[in-house]
Amino acid sequence: MIKVGKHRRTLLRVGALAKIARLKSRATKSRNAGVPQTMRAAAIDRFGGPEVLTIHELPVPAAGAKEVLIAVDTAGVGSWDADMRAGWLPDGRRPKFPLVLGTDGAGVVAATGSSVRRFKVGERVYASSFNNPKGGFYAEYVAVRGENVARVPKLLDLKLAGAIPATGLTALQGVDDALHLRKGETVIIHGASGGVGTLAVQFAKLRGARVLATASGRDGKALVRRLGADAVVDGKSEDIAAAAERFAPDGIDAVLAFVGGKSLERCLDTLGRGGRLAYPNGVEPVPRKRPGIKTTVYNGEAGVREFQNLNRAVEAAKLKVPLEGMFALADAAKAHKRLAAGHILGKVVLRIKSRRG
Ligand SMILES: NC(=O)c1ccc[n+]([C@@H]2O[C@H](COP(=O)([O-])OP(=O)(O)OC[C@H]3O[C@@H](n4cnc5c(N)ncnc54)[C@H](OP(=O)(O)O)[C@@H]3O)[C@@H](O)[C@H]2O)c1
Repeated sequence: MIKVGKHRRTLLRVGALAKIARLKSRATKSRNAGVPQTMRAAAIDRFGGPEVLTIHELPVPAAGAKEVLIAVDTAGVGSWDADMRAGWLPDGRRPKFPLVLGTDGAGVVAATGSSVRRFKVGERVYASSFNNPKGGFYAEYVAVRGENVARVPKLLDLKLAGAIPATGLTALQGVDDALHLRKGETVIIHGASGGVGTLAVQFAKLRGARVLATASGRDGKALVRRLGADAVVDGKSEDIAAAAERFAPDGIDAVLAFVGGKSLERCLDTLGRGGRLAYPNGVEPVPRKRPGIKTTVYNGEAGVREFQNLNRAVEAAKLKVPLEGMFALADAAKAHKRLAAGHILGKVVLRIKSRRG
């Protein structure tokens, strides 16, 4: 055995560490190839109306070891983004301005952190990250934790994929994890013409449930019928109880609600004892508790398993993704005005065309 003096051992260790650092830095550089220093983003410098959303030139966020840097193609625009723009503090803390909004979207992997092994640069991905600490999806680039990212199902292009991460996870988890809907059960999907509801109708049908959808307006009713609902009632102007009586004379098994208030109470009147109700946080006013009704309030969660489930369901359902409107990144304020005007059938998205192609 060759004896190595203490000084020489230290030199060897320093040499080895330097080599590892050189290799690591080369790997990081190759991963980041082509990523610019700055990007365009729709951000706010203060809380307020849609007009506070303006285009900023900001540094591209660096992907941490466990993060994926996504060159964003399409970002979802949700009512929760508008709430944050107006001053809602989801974690109770004031954000650092400028704040880039946007909870979800789709794009192409631009770089990966050193411990991310699941993705390669150039892959088509979609992701959901609520209140993302490194900034949201209304930007040319976003850095997201790897477990919140998944490959886009083959069926979807980036425009449609960008519309569904948050709403798709929320719709599917309502059907599967909160309600455990089974074949042959009857369910009212309340508020079925919106972003989450249009997807929930299709997932409930995929599980074999019989769906009575409540929608808004003649166009909303026509949309959810096209998406596969067995029966449809206008939850704003028609009699939900009468429609439910015709649909399921022995009572409804479950309600999945995306709208609150009096109309939701009418839906709950149709449940028999042992009926189930599920709704995601954000649905307001929240319904009063009813004895004998199992109520589950939940959040749409992102994760590796959650996205696997979503991808399987998207493919199996041959999911249709209705879009209410598409806006350019520079028109993010207009997209928020459209949201505020109401009657959103499906989803509003931002198309984020990078200047660098
Ligand atoms: N916690 C979570 O993880 C999570 C995630 C996603 C969503 N959410 C919550 O889920 C809810 C739904 O979100 P969303 O994006 O789907 O909202 P949305 O796009 O506004 O959908 C609501 C739909 O319901 C319709 N509607 C309103 N009143 C109705 C009534 N009485 N009967 C029948 N339909 C009615 C609306 O039509 P009009 O616009 O014409 O009224 C709209 O088409 C929101 O409260 C949101 O905050 C929570």
